Amino acid sequence: MVLLPYISSPLSWLCLLIVSLFLVALKNIKFHPLAKYPGPKSWAAFRLRYCFSLWNGSLVHDIHAIHRKYGSIVRVAPNEISVARSDGWNDIYCHRAGHQPFPKNPIWWGDLPGRTPSIVSTPLRADHRRMRALLSTCFTPSALQAQEPAIISHIDHLVDQLRKRCVNGDENRTTVNVVEWFSFVVFDIIGDLGFGETFHCLDNNALHPWVEELFSYSKIGALVAALRHYTIIFNVFMRSLPSKSLEAARANYNWGVKKTHRRLDLEVQRDDFVSRILQFSDNDDLRMSIPELENNMNLLIVAGSDTCATVLSGTVNYLVKTPTALQALVNELRSSYRNPSEMTFSNLQQLPYLVAVVEEGLRLCPPNPSGLQHVVPIGGDTVCGGWLPGGTHVSVHQQSLYRSPDTFYQADAFCPERWLPTAKTDAASPFYNDDRNAVQSFGTGSWSCIGQILGYAELHTILAKVCWHFDISMAQGGRDVEWVTQKSFAMMEKQPFDIQLTYVSKNCS
Ligand code: HEM
Repeated sequence: MVLLPYISSPLSWLCLLIVSLFLVALKNIKFHPLAKYPGPKSWAAFRLRYCFSLWNGSLVHDIHAIHRKYGSIVRVAPNEISVARSDGWNDIYCHRAGHQPFPKNPIWWGDLPGRTPSIVSTPLRADHRRMRALLSTCFTPSALQAQEPAIISHIDHLVDQLRKRCVNGDENRTTVNVVEWFSFVVFDIIGDLGFGETFHCLDNNALHPWVEELFSYSKIGALVAALRHYTIIFNVFMRSLPSKSLEAARANYNWGVKKTHRRLDLEVQRDDFVSRILQFSDNDDLRMSIPELENNMNLLIVAGSDTCATVLSGTVNYLVKTPTALQALVNELRSSYRNPSEMTFSNLQQLPYLVAVVEEGLRLCPPNPSGLQHVVPIGGDTVCGGWLPGGTHVSVHQQSLYRSPDTFYQADAFCPERWLPTAKTDAASPFYNDDRNAVQSFGTGSWSCIGQILGYAELHTILAKVCWHFDISMAQGGRDVEWVTQKSFAMMEKQPFDIQLTYVSKNCS
């Protein structure tokens, strides 16, 4: 009774709150099972600092800075560990005999409420295995071979559109925002393979509005992931979202759904994703429900396009700033082909310098520079030799690992030479000790990218055709970007980047 006036005053509630927060922080910093891992105290005390960084797109850079200061295994939230060691790939993402798998972190990978899960969002192992087995049939070597003419025709269309701009410019020259053009071609390709019709981005010299909207959801995706760490706030947020925003998100999704149904209704004999999926529609072990198919088709469009556009744009950004590498690539391409119509997916893979350039692009410009978030299974397990309790959030932080001087010689420099066969065998090469297995930009293990061979084919062919036909350089007075400084939300926020193109194809025969 004597305490009642104190308890009911706002000041006493404030004091109580401060003391509680202090005790929580103290517990997290000093007495938590992860307390032994290094990292900034403000990040270890509360999840808030991490969520703020995620929401404003700087998480990838902040965690990179933490790794640089505190080492290769760091604590970045009360219950989260970030790893910048190549053995982390195996421990977190691959099957280890006698260990439980580390499931995906639903905070990051979960769908919006009410949607049927896709291959990336399903929490159930059996469903993931079933969908993966079915969708993988779209990406076999024989599927790729059948899709090759269609893919090449879009890449030729890109070259043709760029050529027209050059011949209409002074001295066969033009300046283009290369990020945009790479997005146009990869979205046209994926629209064709997925929905049976292109998005006509190349024809219209513009992204389709549906595709453009997808980018705006990237920021919302990061906000949703940040809020999901706080269940109550997330639920309040979802309830208080204006119905217009929810309606817009629904309409965007439904547009993909409609396109899927239009493709299902097409009576054409063509080898694309849907035709492959339909082949197995009678197989009970593989079959997908219609809502599953709808969500997966939406997913494939994003997963298969923005990823390639990011790696291509980043690689060209580095190439024009590394003239020796660009020249070596151009020399290899123009001496290997008298006519670019001779280029095929399989013979391009035989060009050592082209392959090395793409590997270096995947190292310095991965589409997911942050971690692919997973959770330590119940009961806990070891990662890189250290014990982590069950429920700990954990991932390999790609940017920190790929740009670590412990992993690569001159780690921030664009050096395709590190991927050449000689660098791997010649002990005198400065790149001999590079840990090339550290780079897993397509992921590894049970959840790794199923579109890898298609991704590689697009990267090799688009880069080869552009560099064969055009001399490329930085554009005088054009927009530039330092690749590694860009923000990353659910997707990377690519800034416009201008290059100068000079059409030279007629001169090299
Ligand atoms: C440069 C190109 C690409 C890169 C770097 C890339 C990278 C990735 C990464 C890092 C993952 C996550 C792996 C994980 O969770 O452990 C992934 C998953 C996936 N990717 Fe790609 N990707 C690329 C191209 C493509 C293409 C062309 C497609 C298909 C059209 C595709 C379809 C998928 C799918 C369906 C998954 C989910 C696999 C699963 O959960 O089992 N990707 N990709």
